[in-house]
Amino acid sequence: MWYSLSASIALLCIASAVHVQSLNLKTAKDQPCFNIAKPETPIWDKKWVTSINPIYFPVMSTDSLYRASLNVLQKEARDVSFATVYYDACIKWYINNNDTSLSTGFNGLRKEYKTETLMDNPDAFTFVGVGGDKDFYSGTLYTTLTDNKSFYFTAICMQNGEMVWAVGSTTPTLTEETKKKVFDHAVSLGFHKEDFTELKYDTCQN
Ligand SMILES: *[C@@H]1O[C@H](CO)[C@@H](O)[C@H](O)[C@H]1NC(C)=O
Ligand SMILES: *[C@@H]1O[C@H](CO)[C@@H](O)[C@H](O)[C@H]1NC(C)=O
Repeated sequence: MWYSLSASIALLCIASAVHVQSLNLKTAKDQPCFNIAKPETPIWDKKWVTSINPIYFPVMSTDSLYRASLNVLQKEARDVSFATVYYDACIKWYINNNDTSLSTGFNGLRKEYKTETLMDNPDAFTFVGVGGDKDFYSGTLYTTLTDNKSFYFTAICMQNGEMVWAVGSTTPTLTEETKKKVFDHAVSLGFHKEDFTELKYDTCQN
């Protein structure tokens, strides 16, 4: 009796610990999609972006990291620990010039996307996950800031109606100067500082 009681208490503790540490999409929720004006002069250099191999993802909004990770894992948020997203995600992207894009992470997992440039905005394209029955990360991606040589900032209106952001980079870390530039830019678009996060690549296996 005593044994089984302590066993159930132990189980309860494990269950609540798992619960506390799993991803919480609600707390990471970003704001509703807002309009990104069509640029007077396009800034998206597709040739450059498709030549980056791989594209790192060093800073982004928390929801963007969670959803990109869940799509690679093809798991529900409650089944993914918070720590694994920060230590094992190692998310990388490859934007191909045949209207596909590939995301890798979590030690060799892959998720493919189909992309399509918007007719009326050359800086924007839609992306939709291919295969798999879980879709956490599809939407329209707008490039709003870039230096055309080391990074590009994208605001993403997701299919679920939430706006997130991410920075693609040729290197796994950004300089302090670039970080400041992209954080200021995110704030100027209306994103909240509490939702900014960084992804470290130092412990990545591949
Ligand atoms: C980046 O490249 C695009 C397309 O070639 C060009 O229109 C834009 O002016 C460039 N921007 C910068 C900051 O170099
Ligand atoms: C698109 O290009 C990538 C990279 O070159 C290649 O791996 C992939 O198989 C291609 N996909 C299709 C549908 O052609």
